[in-house]
Amino acid sequence: MAVLKILLPLIVGLCAYYFYSQESFSAEMVRGKRVLVTGSSTGIGEQIAYEFARMGANVAVTARREKQLQMVVQKCLELGASSASYIVSDMSNLTSAQKVIEETKSKLGGLDYLVLNHVGGNVGLHLFRGDMEIVKRSMNLNFFSYVQLTISALNMLQESGGSIIVMSSMAGRIMSPFTLEYSAAKFAVEGFYSGLRTEMRLRKINLPITVAVLGYINTDNAMKEVSNKMTMEPSSKEECAKEVVKGGVLRRREVIYPYWSQKFILILRDLMPNLVDQLVGKSYKLENIS
Ligand SMILES: NC(=O)c1ccc[n+]([C@@H]2O[C@H](COP(=O)([O-])OP(=O)(O)OC[C@H]3O[C@@H](n4cnc5c(N)ncnc54)[C@H](OP(=O)(O)O)[C@@H]3O)[C@@H](O)[C@H]2O)c1
Ligand SMILES: *[C@@H]1O[C@H](CO)[C@@H](O)[C@H](O)[C@H]1NC(C)=O
Repeated sequence: MAVLKILLPLIVGLCAYYFYSQESFSAEMVRGKRVLVTGSSTGIGEQIAYEFARMGANVAVTARREKQLQMVVQKCLELGASSASYIVSDMSNLTSAQKVIEETKSKLGGLDYLVLNHVGGNVGLHLFRGDMEIVKRSMNLNFFSYVQLTISALNMLQESGGSIIVMSSMAGRIMSPFTLEYSAAKFAVEGFYSGLRTEMRLRKINLPITVAVLGYINTDNAMKEVSNKMTMEPSSKEECAKEVVKGGVLRRREVIYPYWSQKFILILRDLMPNLVDQLVGKSYKLENIS
């Protein structure tokens, strides 16, 4: 009974805390906000642009392929974006990445959400053959350009009290064979952005950062690259984009999607790393990887 007297109020208290800390999410929080989504000509980035568009944001999309971007802009407007525009840029050129932020400033007049999402540079599943160029290319496109965009956008984000949403991966949290250069870039992203988040907080600078830790998602490119090389089933890119945008708008420190399966692996990784190595290893079709 004595235990109950202590335990019960504790549980009730925790439940109440949980309930009141669950800020509710509404389109009003996003209407009229200015958003830049990188790598938004297809895939998850495209879906993230549509999510922001549905809630009436001013959306800017960027990637290399102009035709695709034009179609995305058109659809953003149909979905209800306050405005939509595109910027053509190759993010492997850091000067060009810097210019994207300058153009965003002249197009939107400021920035409330910087969504770092693009990915590329032959990062599919393949054997490690000691090719230094592949590693450099991946770090440059999938990590350095993120940092460059962040540096260039920092003033604008501080002026608006804006935030950053940055895409990571399970490959940025646990070892991932056959895609070492991609995994390395995502681990770098995790290190940089989680450190930046706390450094800003300690300096009393308001810059919320949401890191999205994603499992296997059914984008065209990922399916093409991975579907015959792994045994796993992919999750929905639309649902993924919804969760990422919600987590970003609510300023959560991280979004894990799909939640339970990935969270389970992350917890298990700390407790039983060897077992996780084996489990992860089993999900590859080795005979199809060269
Ligand atoms: N899909 C998954 O299973 C999965 C899993 C975990 C994490 N993620 C992460 O989620 C994010 C989106 O992934 P996704 O599957 O949606 O990718 P995706 O479908 O391959 O789209 C990648 C985007 O990046 C753009 N891009 C590629 N190279 C570029 C370059 N050099 N310069 C500028 N833009 C470039 C592409 O457009 P252009 O070709 O027109 O330039 C495209 O819009 C990535 O950060 C990825 O790491 C995905
Ligand atoms: C990088 O982009 C800048 C500005 O857009 C351009 O002047 C420069 O030639 C590009 N560099 C390369 C190597 O393509």
